[in-house]
Amino acid sequence: MQDFTGKVAFITGGASGIGLAMAKVFGRAGMKVMLADIEPAALAAAVEELRGLQVRVEGVVADVTSRDSLKSAALETIAKFGKVHVVCNNAGVGSGGAFGTVPPKDWAWVVDVNQLGVVYGMETFAPLMMSHGEGGHFVNTASMAGMVSPPGMEPYCATKFAVVAMSEGWAMQLAPHDIGVSILCPGFVKTRIHESRRNRPPEYGPDSQPPGFDSSLSSPVLTGIPVEPVAERVLEGIRDNDLYIFTHPEMRGAVEARFQNILAAFDKSAASPALSVLPDRAPPELNL
Ligand SMILES: NC(=O)c1ccc[n+]([C@@H]2O[C@H](COP(=O)([O-])OP(=O)(O)OC[C@H]3O[C@@H](n4cnc5c(N)ncnc54)[C@H](O)[C@@H]3O)[C@@H](O)[C@H]2O)c1
Repeated sequence: MQDFTGKVAFITGGASGIGLAMAKVFGRAGMKVMLADIEPAALAAAVEELRGLQVRVEGVVADVTSRDSLKSAALETIAKFGKVHVVCNNAGVGSGGAFGTVPPKDWAWVVDVNQLGVVYGMETFAPLMMSHGEGGHFVNTASMAGMVSPPGMEPYCATKFAVVAMSEGWAMQLAPHDIGVSILCPGFVKTRIHESRRNRPPEYGPDSQPPGFDSSLSSPVLTGIPVEPVAERVLEGIRDNDLYIFTHPEMRGAVEARFQNILAAFDKSAASPALSVLPDRAPPELNL
């Protein structure tokens, strides 16, 4: 997508952090913005702030864990702005802890928001983008935690790896419809992600998070990079139809180390006596 003027963006988790920063950058680039968020007060404040910056913005309370909620938000966006061209499936929450201590319902909560929320966003908005025929772009917020998996972050990493995997496939499927898909993979960014539990709904049961997880996150998050360059980088990524959008080039080594381990394991399997009985095979066609 080269021309942003007059285009319409829909951003989940738009009332805070990276989502709100994307709204500001998109607004400056001439886009109209619909902010969607589960937190009504923060949403109202964000809309007011953006209007003060002369951004053409509306807000809608939406919970990404509900297909119906996203569908209503999509209908409201169409009612307000007519079309949607860019969708940022950005809402996300964090949980983790030492092995065996993650509250069982936290697994469901993190999967519902971080993984299924992205599925529902894609499935709600892709048909709308296809219907207007002007092309479009999805930005699915994963994380560096979708590339490497530090211990103690398993629920979060599992969902962020899933966002990477799903988005890689969707990018290929949607390209013929002139719809791009980018995967945003930031390292630590200064936001309120370490306070995610403010949005943990009561239906996930009593909040029995192991002590220390949020506080162990707060220091790297609060000393993370500011949100604005991340949002500017997202705009570059949409413009160039980048599949992966990284914001922390200094973390490249961690990804290289992981892939070196994986490739070493392939080398080991190639030399394995157990497999040596098999005939030579061609790689399967995976359309990669
Ligand atoms: N901050 C970081 O260091 C960092 C790093 C990598 C990836 N991320 C990802 O960036 C995205 C944005 O997070 P952030 O860092 O700006 O944190 P944030 O807490 O400041 O913003 C997250 C937003 O998501 C909203 N939200 C939470 N649950 C929701 C739901 N069910 N439905 C709708 N909205 C909901 C929150 O109200 C909040 O406005 C997340 O996906 C997060 O995992 C953050």
